[in-house]
Amino acid sequence: MATERTFSILKPDATKRNITGAVNAVIEKAGLRIVGQRRIQMSKAQAEKFYEVHNARPFFGELVEFMTSGPVVVQVLEGENAIAKYREVMGATNPAQAAEGTIRKTFSESVGENTVHGSDSAENAKIEIAQFFQDSDIAD
Ligand code: CMP
Repeated sequence: MATERTFSILKPDATKRNITGAVNAVIEKAGLRIVGQRRIQMSKAQAEKFYEVHNARPFFGELVEFMTSGPVVVQVLEGENAIAKYREVMGATNPAQAAEGTIRKTFSESVGENTVHGSDSAENAKIEIAQFFQDSDIAD
């Protein structure tokens, strides 16, 4: 299996509750390495671009509002099979359906405020990383 990179966001509900370190501990315990990390305030334009594929969904406005409601931590995670591995570690989008031990089961309160984002494919990982990181911001 190849070493991959995936893109992660620790969402505003994580920064607000001061649990970014606790979430990072779960990420690292799963064998994923945080090779890029930056805490930012996402602009409305950045959030709209990032979630463009969801722009016809009824929750789009709410999603953009939430993602810009406070700081987020954008990350590049590296490891064997990192894209699928991180999705497993995050758990289901809806925390009510997430498996025991996953980030969303442990920390999330609702489907909207679900603590973390992770890329869903290698193609999207590349696009998402490029939206927030330059090569010089990443060191493995
Ligand atoms: P994420 O992996 O960041 O990608 C799209 C996001 O939309 C998803 O996580 C959820 O946070 C959010 N989302 C999905 N379904 C709903 C919903 N029904 N209501 C509000 N937000 C949602």
